[in-house]
Amino acid sequence: MEKKIKKEYGICNKPDLKLARKRMTKSTNILEYKVANELIGIGNGKTYIVKTYGCQGNLADSEKISGILEQLGFTKVETEEIADVVLFNTCAIRENAENRIYGELGRIKRIKKNRPDMIIGICGCMMQEENTIEYIQKKYPHVDLIFGTHNITDLPEYINYNLNNKKVIDVKSIEGDIFENVPVIRDHPYKAWVNIMYGCDEFCTYCIVPYTRGKERSRRPDDIIKEVQDLANAGYQEVTLLGQNVNAYGNDLKIDYTFADLLKDLNKINIPRIRFTTSHPRDFDDATIEAMALGGNIMPHLHLPVQSGNDEVLKRMNRKYTSADYIEKMTKLKEAVPGISITTDIIVAFPGETEEQFQDTIKLVKTIEFEGAFTFIYSPREGTPAAKYENPLTEEEKKQRLLTLNKVINAYTNKGHKRFENEIVEVLVDGYSKNNDNMLTGYTKHNMLVNFEGTKELVGKIVKVKVLKAYTWHLLGELI
Ligand code: 5AD
Ligand code: SF4
Repeated sequence: MEKKIKKEYGICNKPDLKLARKRMTKSTNILEYKVANELIGIGNGKTYIVKTYGCQGNLADSEKISGILEQLGFTKVETEEIADVVLFNTCAIRENAENRIYGELGRIKRIKKNRPDMIIGICGCMMQEENTIEYIQKKYPHVDLIFGTHNITDLPEYINYNLNNKKVIDVKSIEGDIFENVPVIRDHPYKAWVNIMYGCDEFCTYCIVPYTRGKERSRRPDDIIKEVQDLANAGYQEVTLLGQNVNAYGNDLKIDYTFADLLKDLNKINIPRIRFTTSHPRDFDDATIEAMALGGNIMPHLHLPVQSGNDEVLKRMNRKYTSADYIEKMTKLKEAVPGISITTDIIVAFPGETEEQFQDTIKLVKTIEFEGAFTFIYSPREGTPAAKYENPLTEEEKKQRLLTLNKVINAYTNKGHKRFENEIVEVLVDGYSKNNDNMLTGYTKHNMLVNFEGTKELVGKIVKVKVLKAYTWHLLGELI
């Protein structure tokens, strides 16, 4: 019988997660991205696909991964079946996100059986966790490349090893430097993500992100402003500023410049729409409210995760604000930006959450009248403090809380949509329905989805639409 030859490793660096957890912080350098000349062209004639899971941070990372691969000569394709390189950019936020990835790795094994030269890579937040790498090595030996969130810019070197039949594992436990001018292939021709900072210093007790993404590191204001200006010049209509806690922007820079200052500077740029995500309620301040009240290109929508409406739960989550603080800030914001739409994230069944505490969340939803929310059942993440807390609720009880909450939120989403019935709204046309070329879709300034009849040439433009009817998940309108 033919003996299976085990592929050698070109690089094999597994993370020391004790270092990551101790936050062995080093100072952040801001460097220019460069690729070695001899690596340009190694992908000529070959194809790739990047499959992204999780948040906008991952979507933005995947656009850089695509940019780097195309710089090496690879061409994007739409399916794994025909790709020479398949990369999974993973999310670790909840258990079900991880299970989906393992399902994908199992599925791709069958494809690789027929095409053994295919390179399978996996990267992102899951790789920064305890035990994941060992598990993948054991269960999914067909994976050729593993890297983490801190070393995307080393991808050319990794791919070069892979193309020379060597495997690579390279996960750094400590956050890396900031690289400017990484090439990007943006998924969308009119809407762009712009990272303003990386990492998170909050350490909410349920959350894995501070361990997978490292400490907070802000980009220089000038670099961000230039990127947004370049996007405006290239005809982009909308920019979403990204950070785990954008209100902490600049804290690590040794200059007197805040997130509100950044918003004010970006407000002067000739780009129609600026959005941002995500804010933290403790750091969301008067200066930001003031900047949002300027209007202009700053959209009248705020996504501000509240997580719970009960102070005792918030304390155990280490959120560092009370529900009264949240209400006070949102009351001020609603006064400063009349008609603003507020959306949120909420976790139900956090360990120890009682029925009364859950009802406080419902009360808060009713007070704020959130016009949308991402709602989650708490999912224990190994290595986070809350994973050790007792959680006596049954799965059925957890699901019931989620259903109850969603029902209340849907009513406010519907109410939020209803306020636009018979109004004229501005819609950035995103695309058209796959089933009907004449049905366009897009988002209003308040970030509400609108469907209306129109022709394809309008895609990428901002048009005026009269809202005919409000539904829970969208508005139906007609072009005027
Ligand atoms: N379980 C459930 N939801 C979580 N989130 C973060 N960590 C967890 C977890 N362990 C939610 C929070 C956060 C959003 C991005 O994901 O609501 O705001
Ligand atoms: Fe994004 Fe958080 Fe998932 Fe990482 S774990 S990809 S930061 S959602």
